[in-house]
Amino acid sequence: MADTQYVMAIDQGTTSSRAIIFDHAGTIVATGQKEHEQIFPKAGWVEHDPQEVWTNVREVVAQALARASLTAKDIAAIGITNQRETAVVWDKNTGEPVYNAIVWQDTRTQKICDRLAGDVGADRYKDVVGLPLATYFAGPKVVWVLENVEGARERAEAGDLLMGTMDTWVVWNMTGGPQGGVHVTDVTNASRTLLMDLKTLQWDASIAADMGIPTSMLPEIKSSSEVYGVDREGGLVAGVPIAGILGDQQAATFGQACFEVGMAKNTYGTGNFMLMNTGTEIVPSKNGLLTTVCYKIGDQAAVYALEGSIAVTGSLVQWLRDNLKVISSAPEIESLAATVDDNGGAYFVPAFSGLFAPYWRGDARGALVGLTRYVNIGHIARAALEATAFQTAEVLEAMNADSGVDLTELKVDGGMTANDTLMQFQADILGVDVVKPVVAETTALGAAYAAGIAVGYWSGEQDVIDNWAEDKRWTPEMEQSERDRLLRNWKKAVTKTLDWVD
Ligand code: G3P
Repeated sequence: MADTQYVMAIDQGTTSSRAIIFDHAGTIVATGQKEHEQIFPKAGWVEHDPQEVWTNVREVVAQALARASLTAKDIAAIGITNQRETAVVWDKNTGEPVYNAIVWQDTRTQKICDRLAGDVGADRYKDVVGLPLATYFAGPKVVWVLENVEGARERAEAGDLLMGTMDTWVVWNMTGGPQGGVHVTDVTNASRTLLMDLKTLQWDASIAADMGIPTSMLPEIKSSSEVYGVDREGGLVAGVPIAGILGDQQAATFGQACFEVGMAKNTYGTGNFMLMNTGTEIVPSKNGLLTTVCYKIGDQAAVYALEGSIAVTGSLVQWLRDNLKVISSAPEIESLAATVDDNGGAYFVPAFSGLFAPYWRGDARGALVGLTRYVNIGHIARAALEATAFQTAEVLEAMNADSGVDLTELKVDGGMTANDTLMQFQADILGVDVVKPVVAETTALGAAYAAGIAVGYWSGEQDVIDNWAEDKRWTPEMEQSERDRLLRNWKKAVTKTLDWVD
């Protein structure tokens, strides 16, 4: 079986959708990719058109198959991975979304979160769901749709509307579309809604009632590795089992083979997300991290993680490219930053979606501080790159405090790990080795593994461990006193972003 067949992962990400075909060694055979529009209707609002995303998913699947000269019969299973928390509500009779998908970066639900927090505060549901009430999560986004789209509440109460994160939307369309496919999600995506009990791995009906979300809208929660359904008749991969679903950060943790307690990875995408495996134990955070489900293989016990989420890292580079037009392509940031030796005193705190871990301040907004006439565009490029590393340092500090053990090295992946200047600075500012695997597409790979394990294409975690290989390692070269000085200045810069929004 393994000689002739492949596994496909569909990665429905924040900026693009991709389909990647892997062979049994976990090597990439072919890729299809297409970006979708980022819709910014107002300051702080971010939306995606769910129909455009679904059309793109089909297109990239076709692209990947064509590039590898493969057809459905060559694919043993499909794994889905996705930008997490982004929520869509649609009519189950027509398949029509009632509103655009509201993206995880969107801050419009601050008032809904404040209302739910009431006198108890933002940690009202934290013991049950592992998360603070924050605009980041999916549940309040669904509340916003029910409260603001005409007729939505009545239709939801009549049982005509369904909700889902992007995994749910893609699987529902793949398995049946407007005629009704399977309505499922996995434990990792469900753990990002503010609605799932981490212990029972089921929806908490009382939280759904507090939010006014009818439980009939919610998908069935499944494990991360089992057959949920098959691609529909007439589909591009008709009859192929969809057998893995993992939120993208959990998928990367799986693809990085972080199977032991204490192992962690950091993914550099539009944002940065560090996850540490805590095994079958649910570890509450005292330092601003999230407690989340890491993965659950079939009927085995769920494995949990502590997570440090940073909203804006790679998207700051996109913002410099698209909004300020100081670079014409993202990789140019590195050459621009290389025109100077240091940040020239400038610090850039990209609190575009408020601040996530470890602060959870929805009222923060971005700031560029420390400016003098000495500062030039090279310094600003450098400050933008350093922002990623400083934010990661703060998350690592929280991770060490929560877990009680100091990480000795950090596994990394994602687009920005191609940036050598950033990775060296990251190792310098953390004071630990930073290590990148040969296959840096760990998100798609993790989803492929989850699907392949469910159908017996891979035998289990040992195959993932055997396939993992180190590509590059960056070792700290900075003096501790310099590290301390930079981090002290960074923390001062962060204070300038707070209390900005009423
Ligand atoms: O929680 C948001 C995260 O899942 C988004 O990841 O890689 O699509 O930016 P990415």
